[in-house]
Amino acid sequence: KMALASPQSQRLKYMSLGVLVLQTTSLVLIMRYSRTLKEDGPRYLASSAVVLAEVLKIFACTLLVFTENNFSFVAMNLLLKEEIVNKPAEAMKLAVPAAIYTLQNNLLYIALSNLDAATYQVTYQLKILTTALFSVSMLGKKLGLYQWLSLLLLMAGVTLVQWPTDSGADSEQKIVTAGSQFVGLMAVLIACLSSGFAGVYFEKILKETKQSVWVRNIQLGVFSFVFGFIGMIIYDSQSLRESGMFQGYNSIACTVVVLQALGGLVIAVVIKYADNILKGFATSLSIIVSAFISYFFLMDFNPTGIFFTGALLVIAATFLYGYEGKPASGGAIRV
Ligand code: C5P
Repeated sequence: KMALASPQSQRLKYMSLGVLVLQTTSLVLIMRYSRTLKEDGPRYLASSAVVLAEVLKIFACTLLVFTENNFSFVAMNLLLKEEIVNKPAEAMKLAVPAAIYTLQNNLLYIALSNLDAATYQVTYQLKILTTALFSVSMLGKKLGLYQWLSLLLLMAGVTLVQWPTDSGADSEQKIVTAGSQFVGLMAVLIACLSSGFAGVYFEKILKETKQSVWVRNIQLGVFSFVFGFIGMIIYDSQSLRESGMFQGYNSIACTVVVLQALGGLVIAVVIKYADNILKGFATSLSIIVSAFISYFFLMDFNPTGIFFTGALLVIAATFLYGYEGKPASGGAIRV
């Protein structure tokens, strides 16, 4: 077993959490910006963006394995062959989170077709709790009373931050498509379960074996690519036949794909050096950061008292979670 709290891994832990806040924030802002742009011609297919992001991720991870092997093609090929081709059972383990993540992405699509965006986002915060429950039951993680309280506070805070405002409700958030609220809610609830389970399952695999996080991510990416490709052909067969897989890609859409691929890399590092619960704190903080940036720079966001209350709760929850040293790890290093 490797030493868990070495200064090196502590540094990587906080650096990766910081990068995740930046990545999530910029992805949200650029996605919002891309939506306000008016373009003629077909829009890029979301299913194709998912597949392209996986390709980019596999490519980037291969490059990282290459550098880990001191820039030797021979060593890299040997390692990849040894770890991926010669150990099919070990690689097959990654088919589980890959299939679940693919299902999850489709569930969220179903959810958004049946629920308004605000209800969807608020309900999806339940994944903070499912992640904690899976971390406790599958990884044996121990959470103190303050940490459970802080998770409830975090969930409440993010819910308030995402609470629909009246001005937003008129324009886009309240456009409820004809559909079933029940179907939408079930889709979000199953997505909360799958998000918690897949994240913790990936964490278990990363922390139980010695293999590099990049090799693991290649294994995950290959399965996700296959499942995503099948999904794309099933869902978008009509538009694929008409305009192909690469229709509608402008520079903004390409940036979104790159940021999404980067997100996959950062999430893997966060799960390895921190954990899924801390990942929840990082993405919650980034919701607040992006709201403030869009208030100061894009002028398209009007913070309400409810928003500020929620933001304060999220920040308070973050401090409360770190207040009590983690019982299991001994808390040798504090930041
Ligand atoms: O909502 P949630 O936090 O569960 O979303 C996680 C996302 O991160 C999924 O869309 C999944 O495809 C992606 N992911 C990734 N690479 C990993 C782990 C997760 O791209 N190693």
